[in-house]
Parts: sequence; C-alpha cells; structure tokens
Amino acid sequence: MSFLSTAHRQVIEQITQTEQAPFFVYDLDGLLSHLKPLTEQSVVKLWYAVKANPLSKVIQTLDKAGFDFDVASAGELEQVLAQGVSSSRVLNTGPAKSKRQIQYFLSQGVRTFVAESLNQVNLLNLTACEQELELQVLLRVQLRWPEGEKNPLGGDSLTPFGLGIEQWQALDITAFPALHFTGLHIFQWGNMLSTPKLAALWSQMVEPLVTLANTLGFKLKVLDLGGGLGIPYHEYDACLNWPHLLDALASIKAAAGVDELWMELGRYAVGEYGHYVDPIIEQKQNYGEHQLIIAGGINHILRPAVTSQDFPCELLRQSAAPTSSYLLHGPLCTALDHLGRHNLPNDMHDNDWIVFSQCGAYGFTESMPFFLCHELPAEYVIENNTVNCIRTSQSASTYLR
Ligand SMILES: Cc1ncc(COP(=O)(O)O)c(C=O)c1O
Repeated sequence: MSFLSTAHRQVIEQITQTEQAPFFVYDLDGLLSHLKPLTEQSVVKLWYAVKANPLSKVIQTLDKAGFDFDVASAGELEQVLAQGVSSSRVLNTGPAKSKRQIQYFLSQGVRTFVAESLNQVNLLNLTACEQELELQVLLRVQLRWPEGEKNPLGGDSLTPFGLGIEQWQALDITAFPALHFTGLHIFQWGNMLSTPKLAALWSQMVEPLVTLANTLGFKLKVLDLGGGLGIPYHEYDACLNWPHLLDALASIKAAAGVDELWMELGRYAVGEYGHYVDPIIEQKQNYGEHQLIIAGGINHILRPAVTSQDFPCELLRQSAAPTSSYLLHGPLCTALDHLGRHNLPNDMHDNDWIVFSQCGAYGFTESMPFFLCHELPAEYVIENNTVNCIRTSQSASTYLR
C-alpha cells in the first residue's frame, strides 16, 4: 500500500521541475471532501485545533467545511481572524493564559474559554469584570484512576493540562460573577485508532465528570472531548470510521445528558492531506548500514524525534529496483535528526526526492526550523485542481539579525 496517490505524485513531480529545496504540499480539494461529512451531522460540534496546521489556506478550507476554531495563542488567534473568521467562532484552550493574553483575546471579541487552573478562572473573571463582559467557561479536567482500577490510558503521568477532580472541588463558582460555567473539557489521549477503545475511554469519563459538575453546582450543558482521533502512519495501522465514531459519540452524549458535545480535531481533520518533499543529498555505507542524508530533517518535520513514530515515506521516482533498508538522516548536527528506517529502492541517486506522507498535521510549525540556519521549506497547495505556492522557501537571512 502507498500513502502517495498517482495524482499527488504527478503534482509533486511537476513542482520539483522548478523547486530545489524541501517543501510541503497540501491537497485542499481532498481535504474539503474529507471534512464535509465530518460536519454534516448533529451529534458533535467540531472545532479545528489550529495548532495542527495554521496555514491560511488550511484554515480557510476548515472554515468552508463548517468548523469553528480552537486557538491556543495570540498568534493563532490573529491568523484565524486574518482569514475573515468571526471571533464569536473561536474557543481558547491552553495551559498558559497570561492576563495580557486574556485581555487581548477579550479585545478581539473571544468569549469562550477552557480554564485549565483555578488561577485562570480568577484571571478570566477579573479581566471580564474590568471590561464588563460575560464569558462562557469550560473547566478542563485531568483524570486519574484509583489504584487497582484499570486505567484505560495505561499510565498516570501528570501534565499541565487542567486539574484533577479534587483540585476543582475547591472552586466556589458563585464567586465569579462574569463567568458562566457551562461545561467540562477532558482530553488526555492521542492518535487513537480504535473506535471501541475510544468509546470505552470516553464512557469511563462520564460518571466522574457528571458528578463533578453536580458537586460544583452547575448544569453540565457542554462536554468537550478534545481531539485524539488518529490517522495511520504505517500501512498496517487501522483507520477510524467516522459513522462508527458518531454512534459512539451519540451514546456518550446521551449518557452524560449534555445539550452539546464538542471536539477540537487536529490530526484527524488535516493530517492525511499533506506531503513533505525532500531532496536527497548523499548516501553512504557505515558499519553495515545504508545511510541516506536528505536536505531537510527535524528542522522541518520534528515529530519523528519526539514521538519515535516516523512519517511513511517513499521515493518520488517510481523504480522497479530491489529495495534495501535505509536509515534516513536530516542535516542537523544532532543524532536526533533521524527520520526513521525505511525500505527504499537501491538505485536512488542524488537527483532523487523522498516524499513523506501524512504530514498535514504537526509538520512544519511543530518543528525547529532555525537550528543550523537552513532554509525554511516552501508551502504549496492544490486547490481547484491548481497548484499554488503560498510561501516560497526562505533563506536564513530573512530571519537572522
Ligand atoms: C486542547 C486540545 N484540543 C485538541 C487538540 C488536537 O488534538 P488532535 O490533533 O489529536 O486532534 C489538541 C492538541 O494538542 C489540544 O491541545
């Protein structure tokens, strides 16, 4: 199985006629067809987690498909507003909300927030009171399972995302006149590929969350289940089925008795619609291994180094040559710049290009582009069957001072 369709291969071949440096290409036509059925239902309200890919054209496509927007910084907010999206369609999540950031969000018209700490609740209330505004607030909960009980997530590692049930119980919701507490948010899993597992995980959350809302004294109108829907990164990985997920979500909605179920999708929304294309620089034999050195590495696609999960890749040129196992390395002076072990044709040469797939989410903007001062990758889109360059490749002189 190939993650690279014939049509995409042809588009990429066309771009490489003129492009010499690494680049991304996103298929917005494919993306829109994938997104439309996601929003054509009444079970779950969908927000796009902008962190997955904040490219203007990607945001515009999510907008066309009827998504609203989850932003985690002033930069993401500015980028969403710059695409003509109204701030009434923006939700703010994230563990670091300074007073300055909250003031800025309020000045831009954002009124819906996920609070991740008691301090955030205080700051939201204080700032809203100062500006005589009222805000809708969801509290982000981080669950742990009692010892001896099966933890559906495996571990119990502490994260900065939200607070435990016990910590939220200290909140007196009557002390915050500017805040309407309407819901709870929970999201502590990632890249899940099994609907039954997700359904089991979500259903374990219902009872503690409903109990918490009752204890705090507000009606649980909204349950936000975050993201975490996965995409395959390996040919043997399973794929989620949206209608099955919707059935599971409808059951959770009924069990929690909420008016609205929300999710903020990143990876599942956009991950499958991007490729990263990288020229080969050289190859060498070293201690019995074939090493392939490519022009861009974790400066453009960091994810393999932080998750130990590679993006699938293949040679752009179709070759019938036998394959060998290659270790792929980027250009940085760290052993972390390793893009995995892949079987590739053994007739590769230094005019060839490698194509990484499933790079539409957590690609360029999750990376470390400045280290070693290589160029930033160009970003292309395919829209209405036409290829356009949205940002050309940029040399270090554009950002070094
Ligand atoms: C609060 C929040 N919601 C949603 C997402 C998107 O997650 P995913 O890409 O798994 O859909 C993230 C990702 O980090 C997040 O932090």
